[in-house]
Amino acid sequence: MTANGKRVPPGPKGWPIVGIALDLRRDPLAGMRRMASEYGDIVRFTVMMQERILLNRPDLINQVLVLQQSKFHKSELTRKITGRMLGQGLLISEGDFWRRQRRLAQPAFHRGRVNEYGATMLEIAQAHIRDWRDGEERNMAEEMTALTLDITVRTLFGTTLPGEAQQMGRSMTFLMRYSLRRQRLPFRIPETWPTPDNRSANRELEFIASLVYRIISERRAEVNPDRRTDLLALLMGAMDEDGSQMTPQQLHDETMTLFIAGHETTAQMLGWTWYALSKNPKAEARLHQELDSVLGGRPAEAADFTRLPYLQAVMNEVLRLYPPAYILTRENVEPCELGGYEFSPGKTVIFSQWVMHRDPRYFDDPDTFRPERWLDGLENRLPAGAYFPFGDGPRRCIGQGFALLEAAIVTATLAQRFSFRLAPGLVVVPEPLVTLRPHHGIRMTLRARN
Ligand code: HEM
Repeated sequence: MTANGKRVPPGPKGWPIVGIALDLRRDPLAGMRRMASEYGDIVRFTVMMQERILLNRPDLINQVLVLQQSKFHKSELTRKITGRMLGQGLLISEGDFWRRQRRLAQPAFHRGRVNEYGATMLEIAQAHIRDWRDGEERNMAEEMTALTLDITVRTLFGTTLPGEAQQMGRSMTFLMRYSLRRQRLPFRIPETWPTPDNRSANRELEFIASLVYRIISERRAEVNPDRRTDLLALLMGAMDEDGSQMTPQQLHDETMTLFIAGHETTAQMLGWTWYALSKNPKAEARLHQELDSVLGGRPAEAADFTRLPYLQAVMNEVLRLYPPAYILTRENVEPCELGGYEFSPGKTVIFSQWVMHRDPRYFDDPDTFRPERWLDGLENRLPAGAYFPFGDGPRRCIGQGFALLEAAIVTATLAQRFSFRLAPGLVVVPEPLVTLRPHHGIRMTLRARN
């Protein structure tokens, strides 16, 4: 019993066995928002006879991510979706193993280091749009994926991997869809069964693993590896206090993790940026004006961003309305108390950036794209747990600074040359896959700026 006399949080009953699986499957984003508005800050529901607890209040989310974080692990759900691709990488490992890996990887993401990648990001963004012409139509979601893929490969491996980068991107997309497909099936076919889907997944995994191992072993054979400054080199050189380093398997898992976590999320953020700006020409005009007056036509660099507050506000607003990571899940490994309810270990707890970032208690006119809201220090006034595009606590995104620099450089570089308009009649619908993607892409017409 809790203080208010209830044993379990309120929530929808759903159908026998499937619970509310069908409802969530139809439209998970709307389904979660509906539950929050109908049942409140803490909601219990079941999917395929498994219990889930949805948290919709900042202080409850802060309990899980920060204050009681040691009682929670990444959920079985997360591991099932990404485990085969990411092994024991940072995103899903736990305990002392995770702590050591994070300690080893952290220096590679210090601000000074990250800023050094700014020049590479700029060079790739400029090269990517060199052939772009006024009046052309392009799918900006695909363009941004190709662009961030290039940036990730160059900053991670220090090379362009001609031919293989595209294949690697395609393999990753296949594997993400495959994992999600499996997750959504009511009855799971074991991964070891030789179904066509499983066989394709094995082939893609082997292709990526052999490529990553090949790069690692080529590096080991290099006479002078110290001259390299890419992320892989930093991970390979990282040494723990006891003098130990990452094994090839650990390097593989971390590389895969950075590769996937790094390019897919940032690509989605950028795609949504062009969509949001095209729908809000006043915001777009103000961004153009700021870029023109601060940069005066010269290329952007890392040092410029403190002088581009509107660009930062646009990025915050894109991450608020279209968070690439739109949901986080955890499982409690110890008993815990949340919102007056006691939970025994093994409960799956869910909270969603999509839901919280559109909560009218914290954001006026929450469904409207209005970068101005960030210009007077809103970020510092919000309670912890109300806005968390990069998570929070010890498991906060290690690549946040990297992603923001990349998004800023790409946005500035493209917006200096073009504005983008949605193809006539196109309706863009957010599709919650592993990340929040635009269903059917974002076809846009390019308009060259003078
Ligand atoms: C807009 C882009 C990005 C978004 C929205 C994003 C979002 C997130 C979020 C929400 C988490 C926390 C997950 C959780 O608590 O369960 C996370 C973790 C992580 N992210 Fe990012 N991310 C982005 C870009 C990047 C980049 C560029 C990299 C690497 C280059 C990266 C690498 C990672 C890693 C390794 C973790 C796991 C950290 C740990 O648990 O120690 N992310 N990210």
